[in-house]
Amino acid sequence: MQAYRAKLLYFRSSGDPRQSAVFETDGMLVVGPNAAGTQVVLAIGSYHDVRPSFPDVPVLHLKDRIIAPGFVDLHSHYPQIDVIGSPADGLLPWLENYTFPEEKRFVVPGYCAQAATFYVAENLRNGITTALTFATSHPASVQALFAAAQQQRVRLITGLCLMDRHAPADLLNQRAAGGRCDATEQSLLDSEALIRQWHGVDRLGYAITPRFAPTSTDAQLRGAGELAAKYPDVWIQSHVAENKLEVQWARELFPASRSYLSTYADFGLMRQRAVYAHCIHFDDDDRALMRDTGAAAAISPTSNLFLGSGFFDYAGADRVGFNYGLANDVGGGTSFSPFHTMLGAYFVAREGQTKTGLTLSPQHLWWQHTAGAARALGLQGIVGNLLPGCEADLVVLNPQATPLLARKTGRAESLDELLLAMIVLGDDRLIEKTVISQAAHQHSSNHISE
Ligand code: GUN
Ligand code: ZN
Repeated sequence: MQAYRAKLLYFRSSGDPRQSAVFETDGMLVVGPNAAGTQVVLAIGSYHDVRPSFPDVPVLHLKDRIIAPGFVDLHSHYPQIDVIGSPADGLLPWLENYTFPEEKRFVVPGYCAQAATFYVAENLRNGITTALTFATSHPASVQALFAAAQQQRVRLITGLCLMDRHAPADLLNQRAAGGRCDATEQSLLDSEALIRQWHGVDRLGYAITPRFAPTSTDAQLRGAGELAAKYPDVWIQSHVAENKLEVQWARELFPASRSYLSTYADFGLMRQRAVYAHCIHFDDDDRALMRDTGAAAAISPTSNLFLGSGFFDYAGADRVGFNYGLANDVGGGTSFSPFHTMLGAYFVAREGQTKTGLTLSPQHLWWQHTAGAARALGLQGIVGNLLPGCEADLVVLNPQATPLLARKTGRAESLDELLLAMIVLGDDRLIEKTVISQAAHQHSSNHISE
C-alpha cells in the first residue's frame, strides 16, 4: 500500500459530465492491491479526511503537483507515427500518398517492433495509459504492439486491420500460404487467432478492425460481424463519416444501406464496445443509431482540423445522446499530447458555438479524455478515473513546468481557469510522471516512468 499527498483531480461517477470534476487542493490518494493483486485506488479525498483511516501508510508528498487519472485515448494508428504532418489536400490523397506507403513497411517484423516500442513509450511520456489503436493488415504488426504493451503493462486494445480491396495490393490482407483459403477468409481466421491469443491477457484487449467500409468487401464486413457476434466482449473499431468524398464513395459502394454509418449496422458491427472514429457528417438518424446500438464516437479534432475533414457536432451528439470521447488519431492527428487534443476539441466546439451558442467547459473536455473515454470503451470504473476500485493509472502534473504555465496557473481562481490554462499551454512537459498500475507478481509499489 502507498499513499500520495498532492492536489487531486478526478470525476464523480454519475451526474452531468459537464460538471463532474472534483478537485482537492490538499488531497490524499491511497493505492494498493485488490483481491486479484492489481494495484487499484483504495481511497481518495482530502488529506484531512483520509489520513486518519490510513495512519501507517507511507505518504509521498508531492507538493504543488496535481495527480489526475491517466488519459484514455480512443483512436490512433500506431503505424502512423512517421506520417504525422504529411501535406495532402484531404483524407483520400493523404491515405494514398503517405499512409499506405508507410503502412507497407510493417511487413517486416523488426520494423513493427521498433514502432510499437516507440508508440507505447510516447503514449506514456504524454500521460496516455489506455489506448485503442489500429495496427496494419500484417498480423506481425499486431503481435509486436501487444508484446510492447504487455511489457509496459499498459492497457491497450488493437487489432488486425481488415482491408481486402481498394488499397495497394501488398497492403491488402494476404491469402493463405499454398492458396488454402482466400485473403478475406484468412484475414478473419487471423483475427480470430489473435483474439484467442491476446484478448483479456493481462491488460490487453482485441478490437475487430475493418479499416473503413470502402476498403472491405461485403464478405469481409459480414465475416467481421460474425466474429463480433461470436466474441461479444471484444471491441470493434473503424472510421466513419470523416470526409465528404469518403462518404460519397461509401454510399456508392453500399447503396442498399440507409447511410454510410448504417452500413456497419447492416453487417452487425454496431454495439457497445464499437468505437467509430470521426462521426462528423451525420444526420439525426445516424446519431440515433449510435445511441440505440451503444456504439461510441472517437472525436479526433487535431486530425479533423489538419486534414480539413470538418467539425464534430457536439450539440447534435448531445441532443440525441450518444457516447463519445477524445482521440489523437495519430498520424492524421498532429500530436500525442492529450492537451493538444483537448485544445483542438475546444476550437472545434467554438466553431459549433457560432451556430448553437453552446460551448465546452474545460472540465468536460478533460472528462472526454479520461472518465468519458473510459465509458465509451465500457471500462468505466476500471480506468480513466481515481475513484476507489479504479486501476491505479495516473499522471503527476507539474503546473510550473514552463515559465508561462507557472505564471498562468498561479493566477487561476477557479477549477475551470486552472484546467483551461493547462489545456491551452500544456504538452508533454506538463506530465512529470506517468504511473502504471502494477500486478501482484511485480514489485509492490507502483512503477514510475519518467
Ligand atoms: N480512414 C481510413 N483509414 C484512415 C486512416 O488511416 N486515418 C484516417 N484519419 N482516416 C482513415
Ligand atoms: Zn484513424
